[in-house]
Amino acid sequence: MSLGQNASWTERKTDERGRRALERQLEYQQDKSRSLSDAEDELVRANFVRSQQVRQKIESVRPISAADRILEVGSGAHGLVFGIAAGYGIGLDPLAVEYKTLFPKIQRTAPTVAAIGEALPFADNSFDIVMSDNVIDHASRPFDVVDEIIRVLKPGGLLYFTVNVHHPFYDLASRLHGTWNALGIKLELSAFADHTIHLSEDRIRGVFASQPINIHSQASNVATTRDIQRRAAFNGVDSLLKKVFFKNALFELVAEKLPLN
Ligand SMILES: C[S@@+](CC[C@H](N)C(=O)[O-])C[C@H]1O[C@@H](n2cnc3c(N)ncnc32)[C@H](O)[C@@H]1O
Repeated sequence: MSLGQNASWTERKTDERGRRALERQLEYQQDKSRSLSDAEDELVRANFVRSQQVRQKIESVRPISAADRILEVGSGAHGLVFGIAAGYGIGLDPLAVEYKTLFPKIQRTAPTVAAIGEALPFADNSFDIVMSDNVIDHASRPFDVVDEIIRVLKPGGLLYFTVNVHHPFYDLASRLHGTWNALGIKLELSAFADHTIHLSEDRIRGVFASQPINIHSQASNVATTRDIQRRAAFNGVDSLLKKVFFKNALFELVAEKLPLN
């Protein structure tokens, strides 16, 4: 999305942060593609298993039919749409073109479109199922992506969504990281440069609480993650921080869009 000439300083810096996170994602996937070389078959298999597990979670609400129109927002190098094995599935990712070259075997199992989640190129109420797995904290405007997902979902359509959640300490650290980089101090810490935001569980629950959806399940593995990180061997500052402030738990939600009024 290109900003107009009247964009504020904050809007421009928000965009820059998203672009930088995307550059880093591409570098990461290029390295991965090189290291995989002939092992893409294994990636295809592992992706199929995970996608089928997610399919079961969606089907706990209702079976997926071959006629269902499915969209994955942020389908990435090897997202769910490539292994869900349904009739009509399409992936969307700003790096869709690059991923086709980097991971040809898995990418040919579903069509993809290069676009951003903040401006989905689809009509209102046009998909039966929308999935977004570990994406919005990479986007320039994460909550606009959520609004767009709900917009394109049909009333009665199903949403499968995940995002990593963290102790609120990392939200503060991420904001500081954004501020000093926006002010021109080019000091990048990987976790905060790869992401545009670090969400707490309360914050993401709040975002979905105001959407026109019926939530079938929402849960996180914060307790297990905190426990594992507390018990882990000391391995530098990062592991010490995680012992006090847990990091990278998974929040997962399955919901259905409410009928339009
Ligand atoms: C951590 S990866 C997850 C990819 C995939 N869902 C998976 O689990 O394998 C995050 C993805 O979000 C994509 N992304 C970044 N900004 C985005 C945006 N504004 N809208 C949609 N996707 C975006 C990145 O290109 C990347 O492929």
